[in-house]
Amino acid sequence: MRLEGKAAIITGAADGIGRGIALKFAREGADSFLVDLNAEGVNETAGMVRDLGRRAGVLVGDLRDRAFLRTIVAQAVEALGSVDIVVNNAGVSRPAAYEEYSTDDLDLVLDVNLKAPFLLSQQVARYLVDSKKPGRIVHIASINAEFAAVSGSTAYCASKGGIRLLTKASAYDLGPYGITVNAVGPGHTRTGMTRPIFEGDASREQEWAGKTPLRRVGEPEDIANAVAFLVSDEASYITGQTIFVDGGRTLWT
Ligand SMILES: NC(=O)c1ccc[n+]([C@@H]2O[C@H](COP(=O)([O-])OP(=O)(O)OC[C@H]3O[C@@H](n4cnc5c(N)ncnc54)[C@H](O)[C@@H]3O)[C@@H](O)[C@H]2O)c1
Repeated sequence: MRLEGKAAIITGAADGIGRGIALKFAREGADSFLVDLNAEGVNETAGMVRDLGRRAGVLVGDLRDRAFLRTIVAQAVEALGSVDIVVNNAGVSRPAAYEEYSTDDLDLVLDVNLKAPFLLSQQVARYLVDSKKPGRIVHIASINAEFAAVSGSTAYCASKGGIRLLTKASAYDLGPYGITVNAVGPGHTRTGMTRPIFEGDASREQEWAGKTPLRRVGEPEDIANAVAFLVSDEASYITGQTIFVDGGRTLWT
């Protein structure tokens, strides 16, 4: 088990990739503090983690709420005794034509996908530096940090492109403290976010798989495996990188 004795904060853990990461971490020996808007889903994930023999704390709230966000690290430490890892996974997508894009949707996408990862990581970094612990920060980016795969994704692309440079810049600043910062960029992955696209229209999944050199869409486990590697001791000399876990989708446009 590669993560024995580690404690991880995972956002967006009620569904999809976040749940996959929590279960992978549990199998590798880590305890998790799970944060999400969706109380039912996040409690279900916590039950699954406990069934695997690990501890799971739950915090229900909105990452757009700055006061809520400031409480996460303290509550995680209270629940698990420490924090070694944060995975900023929660994300939203609000596709719409650029000419008609609303300010509300722009604020939502940037607040959840870019500002919350910045601010939560800052809180975790302060805790790690104060407690003189090395630590691991992982952001969940997207193939949209590399290119605009579909139209109507300008705000989402801006948020994920921002995450890629946030990863590099914060890795530079936090390196001297022994804290690594990396990102994983999923391709099309079967989750709550893509369920409305795939379900009821098998041709959409075939279309996406057909654009992927490995000829399938991703599963949450594919992404979780890469995250587990990046937070393990095996990745202690890797920082500032975005690893695309996309079946080769970013190899061509
Ligand atoms: N599914 C894909 O194809 C895909 C591809 C590339 C990147 N991603 C990224 O992967 C990450 C996970 O996405 P997913 O596909 O598992 O989506 P999902 O919708 O299944 O899960 C996202 C979770 O984030 C939570 N969340 C959203 N806004 C929140 C907020 N304001 N406060 C707290 N929790 C909030 C949701 O409740 C949900 O449980 C996202 O950052 C997404 O952008 C997904």
